Amino acid sequence: MEAFEYRDGQLFCENLPVERLAAEYGTPLWVYSRAKLVHEYRALRDAFAELDPVICYSVKSNSNLGLLRVLNEEGSSFDVVSGGELYRVQQAGADTSRVVFAGVGKTDDEIRFGLESKILMFNVESEPELDAISAVARSLGVSAPVALRLNPDIDAKTHAKTTTGKKGNKFGMDIERHNALAAKVLADPHLELRGIHMHLGSPILTTDPYEAAAQKALDVVTELRRAGHKTNWVNLGGGFGLSYRGEEAPPAAEYAKVILPWIRKAECRLALEPGRSICGNAGILVGRVIYTKREGGKRFIIQDAAMNDLVRPAMYGSFHRIWPVQPRVPAPRDYESEIPGCEPADVVGPICESGDCFAQGRWLPEVARGDLLSTFSAGAYGTAMSSNYNSRPRGAEVLVDGDRATLIRRRETYDDLIGPERV
Ligand code: LLP
Repeated sequence: MEAFEYRDGQLFCENLPVERLAAEYGTPLWVYSRAKLVHEYRALRDAFAELDPVICYSVKSNSNLGLLRVLNEEGSSFDVVSGGELYRVQQAGADTSRVVFAGVGKTDDEIRFGLESKILMFNVESEPELDAISAVARSLGVSAPVALRLNPDIDAKTHAKTTTGKKGNKFGMDIERHNALAAKVLADPHLELRGIHMHLGSPILTTDPYEAAAQKALDVVTELRRAGHKTNWVNLGGGFGLSYRGEEAPPAAEYAKVILPWIRKAECRLALEPGRSICGNAGILVGRVIYTKREGGKRFIIQDAAMNDLVRPAMYGSFHRIWPVQPRVPAPRDYESEIPGCEPADVVGPICESGDCFAQGRWLPEVARGDLLSTFSAGAYGTAMSSNYNSRPRGAEVLVDGDRATLIRRRETYDDLIGPERV
């Protein structure tokens, strides 16, 4: 299902021309398709349906309440990593009894917030954290539900900055220690062992790492049960691939095929924490060309969307498709080779860093001051990682449903920039 399509020479989101949205809401503008968000959530849910998993949408990938509400209505649960994310999920009207809470540095306040919200479980990342959770639970007179986040030492073959399941990464506890850790939980009246958790990295474009993780999960659960623990949950995290370039990511069913047999054997409930694969291709970032210039033998397209809006290209060297909203040349299938009628250009923003560049040497048709550019696959880790660097107000966000657009975050103002400051 494609949410963003060129029809009659211009880009549409569902039934609305993107140009009309940019005229109404200004740029930079984030445009999301409700249908695509729901489609991707359902694809994952259906692929794993046989085990009736709890799908915990990973709030960090895009935490706008408008999106959280849609997913909540669909029956999704949520994966949070901070008190702020838990607060958002509550504000979206979610049932927090299905929420999982990960992160290597949960504070006592955040742990208390989680316990008071009666979450499904904490994904615990260290022994001192087990102690802290136990102490907070004791002070509240409750028992805390926990899953041990185990580091399975599996290479997910993804970006070094987003690999999380290899020995030496800061996440989780060594898988070999599961027996000792479980014994510690069992001996503590304020802790209750619900299961195990693993998250390998993001994005993972092959299914083998998941198969290896699911297999290890079965081994661990079997051993824990043998030792007398009632371990009922396996949480295999998120990280499912997204097609940024074409169709490089396997469909949800492929991941399910390698995961399901192991979890079935383990006779456990399955939890998943997908973020990117659900919201990534449901959103674009629209910028307006401010100037074009040719200097130093190069062509530059300077737009009003920048690295403070979308930091992924600067931070990870990530590839995002970019094409005009009303192009003079039809959008290609392959954005990485020479495109007839086009010339290479660097697409840059106004920020005072050379790294503020969405694409280098990218084949693009002629564009002029005032034209609109769409940066695709921007729904995940776009707004969520945005900042006010260079004192640039964040852009507006709209959610499109058929032929209706709803403003789900207004454009920030200069007053918003200085609002919290005290002088
Ligand atoms: N669960 C845990 C414990 C995670 O750490 C993450 C992502 C997820 C689930 C969701 O992964 P997803 O399904 O979205 O791939 N900023 C980077 C990605 C960082 C991912 C951090 N953890 C980027 O823009 O590529």
